[in-house]
Amino acid sequence: MTKPETDLIAAPVWDAFVRCFHWSLVLLFVFSAITGKVGGSWIKWHMWSGYAVLALVLFRIVWGFVGGEYARFASFVSGPVAGIRYGLGLLKRSTQHVISHNPIGGWMVVVLLLLLAAQAMFGLISDDEIATTGPLARYVSTELSLKAMSWHRLLGNVLLGLVAIHILAVVFHVFVKKEALVRAMLSGNKDLPPELAREASAARKASSAAGFVVLSIAILAVAVAVNWSAWFGK
Ligand code: HEM
Ligand code: HEM
Repeated sequence: MTKPETDLIAAPVWDAFVRCFHWSLVLLFVFSAITGKVGGSWIKWHMWSGYAVLALVLFRIVWGFVGGEYARFASFVSGPVAGIRYGLGLLKRSTQHVISHNPIGGWMVVVLLLLLAAQAMFGLISDDEIATTGPLARYVSTELSLKAMSWHRLLGNVLLGLVAIHILAVVFHVFVKKEALVRAMLSGNKDLPPELAREASAARKASSAAGFVVLSIAILAVAVAVNWSAWFGK
């Protein structure tokens, strides 16, 4: 399991879609958090960035089933025993190499994706009783719109906390465990021991055409939801 840094080989793990998804999400999440807190005339832009986050997250969820080997949830979602074993392994000095997300990080990815989707969906049906109602608020009761707004405020803060934990975890892996994870999320190539590097190089890749089709469907789904009343009336 443990190898000196020099024995590591760079192998392709994160496809261009996962990388573009991640760094676009970072920019849009920061923009959404700031504009949500500032409020006022920024809420118009906040809603647009929220729609973009929803499209990205829908894309990533589907890509987690039809994307390349390491984009798939099946490659990084594991049971509690693997998580505990990995967590205990972190206490040792050695580095535990994994091709995709590690067993604890994998669960964080799932939680972040689901909560981001929930956050945007609460936004879609919310009413802030000031000047803004989400585009689908008219299809639910006023009571639910108001509840959705308070869940949106609460979940916004929960997400900020989870993102802080996510960034601290990445800092820990990079500086304490000396894993070049940020570089991997930029270039797509992760430094791995030879056997894992061989396995990663031979793994199933997804076609770019499939990625563009899934992304287009995700954008279309959000556009339909946001414009439902304009396009379909009522
Ligand atoms: C500058 C800040 C950030 C850095 C340096 C960073 C870095 C990373 C890295 C290195 C990974 C891969 C971890 C691994 O190898 O297992 C990752 C994954 C991920 N990060 Fe971040 N991250 C940042 C901010 C964010 C923010 C703001 C979000 C939004 C909620 C976010 C959501 C995610 C998600 C969902 C994944 C899984 C990627 C996938 O499989 O598609 N990150 N991040
Ligand atoms: C996943 C994407 C989104 C994120 C991360 C996000 C995050 C936030 C945050 C952090 C706040 C500040 C809450 C507070 O007062 O502490 C906020 C406020 C708000 N968000 Fe979002 N939001 C997202 C999507 C949306 C969408 C799609 C809509 C509407 C269509 C929306 C509508 C609003 C409104 C109206 C407020 C102001 C609430 C108030 O008056 O206090 N958001 N959002």
